[in-house]
Amino acid sequence: MSRFTQNSSRNLFYGGSLFFFFVLIGLTFDTMGGLSKRDHRENITPQVAHGKRIWEANNCVGCHTIMGEGAYFAPELGNVYARRGPDFIKGWIQSQPTGVKGRRQMPQFHLTEEELDAIIAFLKWTGEINNAKWPPNVEG
Ligand code: HEC
Repeated sequence: MSRFTQNSSRNLFYGGSLFFFFVLIGLTFDTMGGLSKRDHRENITPQVAHGKRIWEANNCVGCHTIMGEGAYFAPELGNVYARRGPDFIKGWIQSQPTGVKGRRQMPQFHLTEEELDAIIAFLKWTGEINNAKWPPNVEG
């Protein structure tokens, strides 16, 4: 007679479900507990907050993604600070649209120096969020 009875299969089912339920709870606490450190919220200066408002008011996310969220018309900007640096970003935004044939165009937003610096501070802060090295590709 088989030793694997109906009882033992039921116990295996409940035991296994319970075990992995606790693993899930443990990992959830682990992730949630670490979030406040990963987003380095202590570095949200008034300038960073101002930059985020400019980001929202001009609907940058209507074309771009930031950390994967947004539209897929234009490049991901979560890592643009690391990829391009502040001077490139400022020059880029000021010189739009490029008018280059065959390339997607970005509008001219007529941002002031102060607004440009704020947007750059926001992109720098975003780029420094610990996102577990996502995206794996620097151009992502
Ligand atoms: C109507 C769509 C659209 C909107 C809105 C838009 N962009 Fe863009 N943006 C683009 C496109 C398209 C490109 C890439 C163009 C190219 O490569 O020739 C781009 C490129 C960029 C780049 C350079 C990215 C890189 O990898 O070199 C930066 C920085 C940038 N945008 C910032 C912004 C910011 C900040 C805003 C909001 C103030 C914004 N964009 C709003 C379309 C848009």
